[in-house]
Amino acid sequence: MNNQALIQSLQYSDWTVYETQFEPDKLQARETVFTVGNGYLGTRGSFEEGHPGAVPGTFICGVYDDVPVFYTELVNCPDWLPLVLIVDGDRFQLDQGEVLAYKRQMDLRYGILSREVQWRSPGGKTINLTFERFASLADEHVLGLRVQITSVDCDSVIEIQSSLNGYPENQGFSHWERIDQGKTESGIWLHLRTRSSRIELGMATSMTLTGVDSSLQVSNPPGYPTLSTTVLAPAGQTITVEKQVTVFTSREVEKPVQAAQEKLMTLPHYSTLRQAHQQAWAEVWQKSDVMIEGDRSAQAGVRYNLFQLLISAPRHTDRFSIPAKMLSGFGYRGHVFWDTEIFILPFFTFTQPALARNLLTYRYHTLNGARRKAKHYGYKGAMFAWESAETGDEVTPRWLPPQNDLYGEDVRIWCRDREIHISADIAYGVWYYWQATEDDEWMRDYGAEIILDTAVFWMSRVEWNTKEERYEIREVIGADEYHEYVSNNAFTNRMVQWHLQKALFVYDWLLQKFPSQATALEQKLQLTSEQRTRWQDLITRIWIPTDSATGLVEQFEGFFKLKDIQLKDYEPRHQSMQTILGLAEINQWQVLKQPDVLMLFYLMRFSQEFPYSKIALQKNWNYYAPRTDITYGSSLGPAIHAILASDVGEDAYPQFMQAAMVDLEDTRHNAADGIHGASAGGVWQAVVFGFGGVQWVENQLVAQAHLPAHWTRLKFQLHWRNQWHEFDLRPTTPLIQGVIFDLDGVLTDTAEYHYQSWQRLADEVGLPFSRQANEALRGVPRRESLLAIIGDRVFSEDQIQEMMARKNRFYEEFVQKITPQDLLPGALELLKELRQAGIKIAIGSASKNARTVVERLGIADRVDAIADGYSVERSKPAPDLFLYAAQQLGLSPAACLVVEDAASGIEAALAAGMATVGLGPHERVGAAAVVLPNLIGVHFADLLTTPQSA
Ligand code: BGC
Ligand code: BGC
Repeated sequence: MNNQALIQSLQYSDWTVYETQFEPDKLQARETVFTVGNGYLGTRGSFEEGHPGAVPGTFICGVYDDVPVFYTELVNCPDWLPLVLIVDGDRFQLDQGEVLAYKRQMDLRYGILSREVQWRSPGGKTINLTFERFASLADEHVLGLRVQITSVDCDSVIEIQSSLNGYPENQGFSHWERIDQGKTESGIWLHLRTRSSRIELGMATSMTLTGVDSSLQVSNPPGYPTLSTTVLAPAGQTITVEKQVTVFTSREVEKPVQAAQEKLMTLPHYSTLRQAHQQAWAEVWQKSDVMIEGDRSAQAGVRYNLFQLLISAPRHTDRFSIPAKMLSGFGYRGHVFWDTEIFILPFFTFTQPALARNLLTYRYHTLNGARRKAKHYGYKGAMFAWESAETGDEVTPRWLPPQNDLYGEDVRIWCRDREIHISADIAYGVWYYWQATEDDEWMRDYGAEIILDTAVFWMSRVEWNTKEERYEIREVIGADEYHEYVSNNAFTNRMVQWHLQKALFVYDWLLQKFPSQATALEQKLQLTSEQRTRWQDLITRIWIPTDSATGLVEQFEGFFKLKDIQLKDYEPRHQSMQTILGLAEINQWQVLKQPDVLMLFYLMRFSQEFPYSKIALQKNWNYYAPRTDITYGSSLGPAIHAILASDVGEDAYPQFMQAAMVDLEDTRHNAADGIHGASAGGVWQAVVFGFGGVQWVENQLVAQAHLPAHWTRLKFQLHWRNQWHEFDLRPTTPLIQGVIFDLDGVLTDTAEYHYQSWQRLADEVGLPFSRQANEALRGVPRRESLLAIIGDRVFSEDQIQEMMARKNRFYEEFVQKITPQDLLPGALELLKELRQAGIKIAIGSASKNARTVVERLGIADRVDAIADGYSVERSKPAPDLFLYAAQQLGLSPAACLVVEDAASGIEAALAAGMATVGLGPHERVGAAAVVLPNLIGVHFADLLTTPQSA
């Protein structure tokens, strides 16, 4: 981590971000930072009076227009800010006269940007100015701006001009043609239309002065209607100028000018508007706030990112989504990427589900574009655009000029053809929206079609490798864009497999719950039962490159054969590795722009599905994290790395702050292009899923917090299955309050009886088996054990059932013979000691006979809870059994310690976030924090000897 990134130049309080100095070299980055908005529009934080080099920007959700190379872009709309003050002939501007005092502040709680300036004019007049502005959250067509002017030491004559600027540009390109402009009783107005998309826009504004007598003049130079007045400002008296603005486009209403005029006429007083706006924000924060105690910059940084997310999500429409740079800059031209579904969406799914639904419904509306794309490439179904805008057709530029090279050849951007994981990413967003909200109607009417038609696409996109007898996906770009031409990208292949699993589930669900909708979709998408069989086949036989010797998932076929890299060798650096090595060369190296295999781990972490497990994560983390260009690669990386770092017990804070401060502190020197939306969404996920440790276990949300050392509290709420769940987390004390014992091989040696039962069965059936072979069966459930013993021999299901029953009968006979004498040495003493120390005790055994065994051992009254083979569905290494035991004890997972003799048991305990003690050889239980041979002479303190992270 580049520590310089953390040197702060903005200042922070719990709810504000502010600067106390005007720094002209940061002009454009700060314009991005001080963006205000309301989901309908966003306005960059440029100054009302203007400044050389300023890049004002107002973007209205969905107002796109054609542009060369990029197909379409979000259009810069008329600037509603201009407010010019001329003090005794001197025009107020920060590069003129002298700035005596300055403070600019974003009030995140109420969505109000303000600025206090004390300015001495070149002519020597001192005035105090207080500006504020907001884009109303209560009424998205309304914008408010106010300036209070006080002439400090003597009277001044002040001219005030308030305008609408009808000449906005997109980096030199003009999208607008002027239709008309004029004045009404309440003010002035402007009517424009975009050149190609022919979207009409109407904007109107009024100006009111209090504290002085005045009369307004209207001037109407083309494209720049202006209201002005000249007043005498007596020394010490404050004059207040209020500018109200209304804006509509033909996207929402037929006659936008009329709508703007009418709304302007009926607007209440500025303070009333402001109050309604503040009220709306208070309501939003009630649901979406995250409170952090003990770390002011993290608190402000997090709220800042959430604020940016909240002002960019469309509330009024489901026809558009959130662009990568939101409504705050020109970067990526207002195009929508996977950033929305994977990085941004969870915040909304869990705190503002109605907005999440809007975002996903946008994808539904763009399905036809996705179908056109699939067809163009010769595939079936729906293939979503890597970069999407209004129609869903692909708008990723095909060629771009190289950066900083006048003579270089244009670069082909392959993402449009090859970065196909987007279709599975969208399905992922849909699935978790549904899981979290149980919004069956939406799933029926929208979500299902998205998931199923993209599944159809996958089936036509995969290739069957006859030689290897497996499905493959060739010629793709994975999440890591440093490698542009790869095959069998593990991330893509596994996401496709996951996608088809969910598609089958959704299909079955529809058939059962909404058969007529199922039939309708079958016809529309040409789904057949044969196709379902092929989906199933693909799920079973798609190849996900993994190296079983090392436990590493291979990023793509051949990745491990590429040249290896030591990123340390390139430090200190201020550029991406792609810039350093070059576009073509970087393909030859094992260096990543952003998490790819680790991204897969992250996405599978919530449900703990393949390849996620604590141990696999650790191995892959150790390999891939040091090879990822996390500082100057993609800004999508740091938040995800922060979450995984916190999973593997490393310090996650530096990467978390890198994500949280990417725009505030401009750590990548590109904040001027607009807010990094994906990073903002990632910050929320890092707090909630990383530090908060929220996971989804047995259909419940559970939190295993691991807060940064200096955080004293973390509080947030999540909306899950129609209920709000409050999480009020404090630092987890390393105090162990409960011990969960596995039974077999730990407290008693029923492992021996299991062995003897299997041996007897094996002998009777004539299967080879031995004490040594039995070693591999420790902690393994009955069915899997039997299958392992059977090996290649073929038996019918009935025979298998019979053998399982027979083995169990043998075992039950043994169990009946168990007496307290069968407790292993040291066990009883330890149980007594724990009891005395007030430590709670549970049994966590996969065995269905656990309860009987405990009773026969005579320790039933020494244990507080039993989790056995009946308690949960998923067996170890899933964490479920231990989490269940902790729940029975009334303890958080972090307060529990597990004693186990099986590798899968240790893995389960680690996955549950519990302390671990392994009994037995290192080869078997070495993943545990403490390893002991057995319980002989073991005291409570011996279980705790490793340092535990707070
Ligand atoms: C991004 C791609 C994008 C391309 C064109 C690249 O910088 O990494 O994801 O598609 O620009 O916009
Ligand atoms: C990243 C992509 C991302 C895009 C837009 C690129 O630099 O590599 O993953 O979708 O930017 O943020």
